[in-house]
Parts: sequence; C-alpha cells; structure tokens
Amino acid sequence: MFGRRPDDAVEKLRRGCDREELRADGTTAAVIDASFTVEPGQIFVVMGLSGSGKSTLLRMLNGLLEPTAGHVRFDGQDLTELSDRELRQVRSKKISMVFQHFALFPHRSVLENAAYGLEVQGVPRAEREKRATEALELAGLAGWEKSWPDELSGGMQQRVGLARALATDADLLLMDESFSALDPLIRRDMQDQLIELQDKLKKTIVFITHDLNEAMRLGDQIAVMRDGRIVQTGSAEDILVRPANDYVASFTQDVDRSRVLTAASVMDTDVRGDEAGCGCPTATSGTPFGELCAISARVSHPVAVVDTVNGERRLVGVVPRQRLIGSLGDEQGDPAPCDSPRAGGEKVAARA
Ligand SMILES: Nc1ncnc2c1ncn2[C@@H]1O[C@H](COP(=O)(O)OP(=O)(O)OP(=O)(O)O)[C@@H](O)[C@H]1O
Ligand SMILES: [Mg+2]
Repeated sequence: MFGRRPDDAVEKLRRGCDREELRADGTTAAVIDASFTVEPGQIFVVMGLSGSGKSTLLRMLNGLLEPTAGHVRFDGQDLTELSDRELRQVRSKKISMVFQHFALFPHRSVLENAAYGLEVQGVPRAEREKRATEALELAGLAGWEKSWPDELSGGMQQRVGLARALATDADLLLMDESFSALDPLIRRDMQDQLIELQDKLKKTIVFITHDLNEAMRLGDQIAVMRDGRIVQTGSAEDILVRPANDYVASFTQDVDRSRVLTAASVMDTDVRGDEAGCGCPTATSGTPFGELCAISARVSHPVAVVDTVNGERRLVGVVPRQRLIGSLGDEQGDPAPCDSPRAGGEKVAARA
C-alpha cells in the first residue's frame, strides 16, 4: 500500500473494498494478494501493463520496499523480519538487480563499472577485477574492459549492467524491464544470451516485462498481473492454450503460437493401444511445434506422440495434420469434413 494509513487500507480490502475506492481515499493498493513461489534455477516472469504493480512486487522481493501485509521468504529467511543491516547483507551478497536504464558511472571504465557491486561488498581490487572480467566475458563484452561507458551502444551498456549483477555471484537476479529500452534485434539477442547464461549458471531469475512475447520466450513460469493482482500463473503454453480469462486471452492474440506450442497441447489424446510401431518417426509430448510439422510432412498418417514412462514407451496421443494447421489459427476441435464438389473444385484450381 502506498499513501495514507496503509494498515487501514489493508483492512478495507479484506472487507471487500476495491482498488478504486481506496484510491479515492488517497491510498494506492499497488500489489494485492500476490502469492507465488519461484523455484531455484527458474526464470520467473512477471508480465503486466504499466501500473499493474510489477516494479513494486520486485522491490518487495529484495526488501527495498516492505510489504504492508504478508511475507517474502527467500532461501529459508523471511525478509520481512530481518533488521536493516541483515537485509543489506542479503541484498549485497545474494540478490542482484538489473534495471531498465542501467545507470553506469560515466567516469569509470567498463571494468570498474562491472566491479562496482563487489567494491560495495569490500572485495579486494585484484579479486574484483578478476571476477568482473569473467562476468564481462559472460555478458559478451570481452575486450571492452578499458572502454568508457559513452563509447558503448545502449545494448552494450545494458550488458555491463548484466555483468555487474553476474559479478557479485548472487543466486537471485531481479530484472526490471531490463531489455525494454533496446532495439528489437538487440533485445532478442539479449534474451538469447540470458537463456544461454541461465543454462550455464543456473541462477534464479525474476524478470519483469510488459511484453508477452518476451515473457513467453524467457519464462519457465509466467505470472500475469492486472491492477495489482496476479490473474494467472503458468507456463507459456498454459497461458496460451488455457488463458484464465478474457483479459489474459486478449494478450495472447499477437503471440506467435508456433514458438510456444508443443505436441502436448495439440495432440488428440483419445488413443488406445500400444505404440503403433510402423517404424515412422514419432514425437514426444514436449516436441516443439516446428519439429512436429517437419515430422508430419514425412509421414502419411497422423504423427504418433510417444512418451517414455517408467522406462516403457507409451503412445499418449496422435496429431492429425488438420490439428496442426488448426492450432496455429487457434482452432480447438477437428474441422468437419467437407464433401462439396465446389470446394473440391477450388482445391484443384488452387493446386493448378
Ligand atoms: N513510491 C510510490 N508512491 C506512491 N505510489 C506508487 C509508488 N510506486 C508505485 N506507486 C503506484 O503503485 C502502482 C503500481 O506501480 P508500479 O510501479 O509497481 O507499476 P509497474 O507495473 O511497474 O508499471 P510500469 O510498467 O509503468 O513500470 C501505480 O499505481 C503507481 O502509481
Ligand atoms: Mg515498473
């Protein structure tokens, strides 16, 4: 809660008061009932429009803001119960933050900028320069250590921010719209790099964005926020295939479905019996859509989806070609067959 008498406002919310009524009283309920768990090694994305409460949520995760009510548990500790000194320790050693416009010190070299977090921790110069050099290399900036920030492009400056966060060796990275100010191509490049880094370093990342495509590229789990509340938490595929409400569905319209869907969400599960065993290529539940299309083009029948459960190969579904095409256009069921000669004629004409 921001504003006057926050505790009263919490009470009012509990009694059913809504956000607008509180605002009329001069209080902003920035984050309401937002409960979620981030597993170690996950990229957890929080997605929502401007003002939905994302940054406030993130600042509570590193203790920069104290929740009016509720708890933030990190690595066995309740951050809301730590003293200021303990909290500063956690923040400098275990949590790093990367902002949208990363403020670099203009009169310090790239290396000194990347080493800043370590300097704050009191790490000796030789050690911090070594670690910062490694972090710059991870962020794709090897060779730029001696440059000045104004010699770097916006994307590269953002990488220095990322390197600073990586250099401290924190387990948890909090990234608030870290790529939003970048050109689309550079942004995509940074997303790829983050995924690559994550594979290598196994950090836990909470990433804020207002772009669902970015959320779906990066997120193992995605929480969609609206007016301070989390309206859905799920994988990219959950959100695309099973949106919790019309609001979430409205976001998914511009998403490239072929990048998100897997065999599991397009297959027909009404199958019986064992694996067909005709020797044709098969898919698994996790086969990405593009690969599924390639398999479908190589077989004359529906693609068999075969998973290995307890060491045993089991047929879990089939994907007819119409399903593949229909699912790209958000078609759920199987299309009704059309025997009209006219339609057939058009098909021939189209082929001709
Ligand atoms: N320090 C503050 N004092 C008062 N109100 C605040 C403060 N910070 C945020 N708010 C309010 O809390 C609500 C949520 O803001 P927040 O910055 O968390 O949104 P956001 O989702 O990060 O938006 P954006 O995408 O624009 O960054 C907004 O209504 C905002 O006006
Ligand atoms: Mg914000």
